[in-house]
Amino acid sequence: MKKGTVLVSGGAGYIGTHTAVELVAAGYGVVIVDNLANSEACAVEGVRRITGIEVPFEQVDACDGQALRGVFEKYGFVSAIHFAAFKAVGESVADPLKYYRNNLTSFMNLCALMHEFGRSDVVFSSSATVYGQAGVLPVTERSPRLPATSPYGNTKQMAEDILRDCCAAYACMRGIALRYFNPIGAHPSTLIGELPRGVPQNLVPYITQTAAGIRPCLSIFGNDYPTPDGTCLRDYIDVVDLARAHVAAVDRMTQGRMEASYEVFNIGTGRPVSVLELVEGFERANGVEVPRKFAPRRAGDVPAVWADTRLAARALGWQAVRPLEETLRTAWAWEKRIRGIK
Ligand code: UFG
Repeated sequence: MKKGTVLVSGGAGYIGTHTAVELVAAGYGVVIVDNLANSEACAVEGVRRITGIEVPFEQVDACDGQALRGVFEKYGFVSAIHFAAFKAVGESVADPLKYYRNNLTSFMNLCALMHEFGRSDVVFSSSATVYGQAGVLPVTERSPRLPATSPYGNTKQMAEDILRDCCAAYACMRGIALRYFNPIGAHPSTLIGELPRGVPQNLVPYITQTAAGIRPCLSIFGNDYPTPDGTCLRDYIDVVDLARAHVAAVDRMTQGRMEASYEVFNIGTGRPVSVLELVEGFERANGVEVPRKFAPRRAGDVPAVWADTRLAARALGWQAVRPLEETLRTAWAWEKRIRGIK
């Protein structure tokens, strides 16, 4: 049976495209909204090829309230997933207004229009960054949010609060914030994946570009952390598993299963993996070498963070299922495809 239609803002991006695919697979209609500020139109083509559906795409900047209103007038969705945001931590420190303006204006526009048009369900793309370096690991949804260490992280906390307050105030609105840990990998079809512009800031794109010979050497930032091998511990979640968590969140809302008007879930695997383990796992999974060296710690990195995933499992009926090895294979398959490597 066909379910309702979901607006996916930032739907041409890395996580947005994978989520659009999983929504269609689950029987939802999808409208992609994206200004292509940090994505390419070919990503939407990838979604269309995988799903076999001419998924509607509106090239609209969610910061432009009038243009976004046009999308609300044109389509009859009841749910929205908001991905549209800048996400480079360092850039946000250098140019905070760019981040506050873009990430918050787009989200407030979306919430205001949802309220005005009487459309109820909003899923917000949040981040484990809100926990900072938690005192107790793994982190649960009840772990305190620590003061953000970057404007980027602050926009995630502020947007969570905006959604929480809207859901408390407006009877028609419900919200779920999904706190992602470290999304990695690509769709097994290799038709969609991450397309970082310039030098990658995140570990896996840097690894794949190094393996492809685009970067001479991976720098491992810090090997003197208080962790088993001295490198940082993270919770790496396959992007397809992550995409399915969004479907589970929309299901929960549309099926009236929420226990409060605003809920928060950790989306991770529950398994800590060190930087060294990840690099070595990538080499083993793909039979390629990644030249690497140890480098000083990167400012702002926390030594260790991973998710307690029990609440998501119980409430969303969702858990990560893809083995890390397979995820690392998709990451390499995607890099090879976009570089034309055999
Ligand atoms: N790392 C390296 N070398 C690199 C890149 C990263 O050693 O070239 C290390 C980092 O120091 C860190 C680990 O790899 O220990 C993971 O780094 P990422 O940049 O891939 O991921 P982060 O955990 O720093 O960041 C992720 C998201 C951010 C989000 C942050 C906090 O990518 O958007 O989690 O939630 F803000």
